[in-house]
Amino acid sequence: MKENEIKKCLGIEVIKYIKPNSIVGIGSGSTVSYFIKELVRIKHYIINTVSSSYKSSYQLNQLNIPVVDINSVKNIDIYIDSADEIDNNMYMIKGGGSALTNEKIISSLSKKFICIVNNSKLVKKLGRFPVPVEIIPFSYPLIINKIRKCVGGIPILRSNTITDHNNLIIDIYELDLNNVKLIEKKLNNIPGIVTVGLFTQRIADIVLVGNCDGSITKFS
Ligand code: 5RP
Repeated sequence: MKENEIKKCLGIEVIKYIKPNSIVGIGSGSTVSYFIKELVRIKHYIINTVSSSYKSSYQLNQLNIPVVDINSVKNIDIYIDSADEIDNNMYMIKGGGSALTNEKIISSLSKKFICIVNNSKLVKKLGRFPVPVEIIPFSYPLIINKIRKCVGGIPILRSNTITDHNNLIIDIYELDLNNVKLIEKKLNNIPGIVTVGLFTQRIADIVLVGNCDGSITKFS
């Protein structure tokens, strides 16, 4: 099965986890865009959605699925998003689509977090994919130096990218993630870094993995 067909299967499957009258958090990226297409089928029985990016909001609006400001909801029943990499502990690298800040906020506020990924995203050890960090634009070369000193790796400014918060993204290549929790903590402590694309604290409650034959494997 082609990658996009697997994403479609994931979208169909994850819809089954959404209960009537839910407020649904929506992630970002190509996998999520397949889920949004399936969400149309049940839009009449969800209350609202909150979205993690302008891009997802745009797609939701186009499909007449209600999207509201996150500050107007009391709770988020379920959050559905994908990842760039996920390991056996369900630790993730996210932010390939630059929406990591809102994704971290919404996942942390959600009662349930379901991650949907193609099996190509499963890894024994995180780190093949560069770790994205969102930074404020002020003095980015100094932040790059600080990252090198604090955690190593090869931090590179992502070209032609401005986040929804008007910030920049630095991708850190070849980062040693043997102690991923410590690296997340160290990066979080660097002034100027807004969000680190390592998700080791609020991990997913359920991971749905799409396999090449169209079947879905569930981890929880
Ligand atoms: C966006 C993300 C996405 O979940 C991640 O990049 C996966 O995207 P895709 O489904 O396109 O592979 O973290 O910030």
